[in-house]
Amino acid sequence: MMMTEVNKRKLVLPRLVLTFLLLFTSITNVVAGTTSRFVRSEWPSVDIPLDHEVFAVPKGPNAPQQVHITQGDYDGKAVIVSWVTPDEPGLSQVHYGTSEKKYDFTAEGIFSNYTFYQYKSGYIHQCLLDGLQYDTKYYYKIGNGESAREFWFRTPPKINPNASYKFGIIGDLGQTYNSLSTLEHYIQSGANTVLFVGDLSYADRYQYNDVGIRWDSWGRLAERSAAYQPWIWCAGNHEIDYMPYMGEVVPFKSYLHRYPTPYMASKSSNPLWYAIRRASAHIIVLSSYSPFVKYTPQWQWLREEFKKVNRDETPWLIVLMHVPMYNSNEAHFMEGESMRAVFEEWFVHYRVDIVFAGHVHAYERSYRISNIHYNVSAGDRYPIADKSAPVYITVGDGGNQEGLAGKFRDPQPDYSAFREASYGHSTLEIKNRTHAIYHWNRNDDGTKVPTDGFVLHNQHWGTNLRRRKLKKHHLRDVVGWIASS
Ligand SMILES: [Fe+2]
Repeated sequence: MMMTEVNKRKLVLPRLVLTFLLLFTSITNVVAGTTSRFVRSEWPSVDIPLDHEVFAVPKGPNAPQQVHITQGDYDGKAVIVSWVTPDEPGLSQVHYGTSEKKYDFTAEGIFSNYTFYQYKSGYIHQCLLDGLQYDTKYYYKIGNGESAREFWFRTPPKINPNASYKFGIIGDLGQTYNSLSTLEHYIQSGANTVLFVGDLSYADRYQYNDVGIRWDSWGRLAERSAAYQPWIWCAGNHEIDYMPYMGEVVPFKSYLHRYPTPYMASKSSNPLWYAIRRASAHIIVLSSYSPFVKYTPQWQWLREEFKKVNRDETPWLIVLMHVPMYNSNEAHFMEGESMRAVFEEWFVHYRVDIVFAGHVHAYERSYRISNIHYNVSAGDRYPIADKSAPVYITVGDGGNQEGLAGKFRDPQPDYSAFREASYGHSTLEIKNRTHAIYHWNRNDDGTKVPTDGFVLHNQHWGTNLRRRKLKKHHLRDVVGWIASS
């Protein structure tokens, strides 16, 4: 029987939909990733000499140095200021206020010091400024008289599902000329907070007293950014500092003295893993080098922290760790498997938006994939496309003295979307609760070049919009926020 015109027309739409779906599926799942052939003329991967001006000690007797700040509470109304006085403790006070040169408030902190082999650290101060106003510029002063130093920072907007905010992501920085280039390019990006994915100073590449000396020089290098905006710290293997040959066997000794985190605000029992909320993001920091298998403190803490995530308040769920779970570079290949086996299922279940890692000195971005059906008896053994899974990004290319990880595995695995062995940094610019713009910027022989980028759709709000409605009080907050901005 001949098909009528009406029946034919009825079939056109479903066919079109099917064709589109097939095409779309093929684009998202099967398109081979890109291995960039870009090769830069690399500056030597050597540390900048200690007498270079980037490590200059500030003027004045016992002047505060190595100034850095980080978020000091769960929701962004507090800041921890940290600095070092080299010769004597001095005061652990921070004077601060909302007008330049007018410091209406004073906060009292604490100080500590430590030894590492025969090196004696300076006096490391930590001072909490709390009860701050949201979205406000604060000026602060530390030290006195001719040694006084002044800085400023801006607090984030109040926790709000539609708050826009720009994060930078840096990893494996070190203290070479490439590190300096990364840092300068990052500062140009105009981002407001650094998500640092581990391996700060590479001081453990030195021996004996030089280890402590290179922690100090890195603190002075990073100050140009870290004194003015929070760096959210995540520990890497170069923070472990386990050096039995000189009697130093307490893991993370230098790092934990120098880089405080607000771990107690998220009910963590350890500064190496914790969470913060900032603007519209919930950021979870994990420790690749602390126990994480079932029943360990980190595992139990993460189980509870995921339950606390409220996508109505903080739509963006971001995880930081040092060792990547998905990495197709020969360097550190498979090192993230043990943590993947433990935590990946939760990442998919809670629809994490993006996971940032470092460790591998190259750049790589994955598609949304998961490998949670495998078990040792049966099941799929390969990563598959999974819309509920996060995007995994490795940005361990800050520029440290170990150089680039230039050898990617061949062929490029299906899950790998883009990879390039260059130095650089990333930015994640959250626009609202549904969209964010991500970029990776290569240091192209000293010039910042946007190289990889995409629009990130929120895992909770970016899809099935019709099903998702903001609760009434959040809508009221958003209207108020728009009216007041
Ligand atoms: Fe590392």
